[in-house]
Amino acid sequence: MQDLKDKVAVVTGGASGIGKNIGLALAEKGTHVVVADIEQARAEETAQEIAQGGVQTLAVQCDVSDLSLVEKLAERAWSHFEHVDLLFNNAGVVGGGSLLDTTASELYWLFNVNVFGVWYGCKVFGQRFRNQGTPAHIINTGSEHSLGVPHVQAGFYTATKHAVLALSDVLRREVPDNISVSILCPGIVKTDLWNATRNRPEAFGGPEDGSPQAQLLMAAGMDVREIGRQAVAGVERGDFYIVTHSHVRKSVEERSAEILAAFDGQAPYNEGDDKYDVNAMIEQLMAAAQTTRQN
Ligand SMILES: NC(=O)c1ccc[n+]([C@@H]2O[C@H](COP(=O)([O-])OP(=O)(O)OC[C@H]3O[C@@H](n4cnc5c(N)ncnc54)[C@H](O)[C@@H]3O)[C@@H](O)[C@H]2O)c1
Repeated sequence: MQDLKDKVAVVTGGASGIGKNIGLALAEKGTHVVVADIEQARAEETAQEIAQGGVQTLAVQCDVSDLSLVEKLAERAWSHFEHVDLLFNNAGVVGGGSLLDTTASELYWLFNVNVFGVWYGCKVFGQRFRNQGTPAHIINTGSEHSLGVPHVQAGFYTATKHAVLALSDVLRREVPDNISVSILCPGIVKTDLWNATRNRPEAFGGPEDGSPQAQLLMAAGMDVREIGRQAVAGVERGDFYIVTHSHVRKSVEERSAEILAAFDGQAPYNEGDDKYDVNAMIEQLMAAAQTTRQN
């Protein structure tokens, strides 16, 4: 989406960190911003700060892991602004430990927020964008872990970010032409993510302070303002992958090389093997079903 002026964007997890800085970067382009966050007071504070950039803002409390609240968020955004053009599915949490020792309840929480939360946003806003019919853009926040950097001591966080890439990659092929899809894949960024467990519900282990080691690690991350601007620049260019940390390329190359070597050694391509291409098979089945319906 090249011209962001007077468009309306909803940013989940918009009260702090990457979401807040996406909001600030959008304001520089003249985009009005809905700051949606589980933390109401912080969302209001951030909405006021973004409004100083000369755009209209709205703060909405929303837990993205609850479908009915995501539906209410959409309702509030549309009734306030009459149209919405961009959704940044950015809210996310981190937690866990070694795969052998983590408890299941915490992992359900990670999936509820990072995967179901993203899907609820895609579904609710995607349906509305389809009905609205005007150019719209869904931007999901993945991470370097979406691209193959394994986060030791955070296997399930890594898994949720792989899932965000999988959902985004299928979504972009399923949505109508008026909707674009991107995935933002940052490496480490200086934010409050290390302390995400402060908002963990009782059902998933309850609130807990993040670890001082994680705080130290994140303090050495990239400047969050840079990520906000890069996210918005990626939307303007219409890129699917929005990448920010150049060193991640090495992991992508290593993973690709390992997979390609496995194919070379175990399943080299032979003429005719395309008959197992699942997408080609689905296309043929759908064409056959269409012909049957017409006859
Ligand atoms: N900081 C990093 O190094 C980094 C790197 C790659 C990806 N990410 C991703 O970026 C996104 C934003 O994280 P951040 O680093 O800005 O952290 P952050 O903690 O500063 O911001 C996350 C925001 O999400 C909100 N939030 C948490 N749970 C929520 C829920 N259930 N519903 C609605 N809002 C909720 C929090 O209140 C907070 O305002 C996350 O998806 C994270 O996984 C972060």
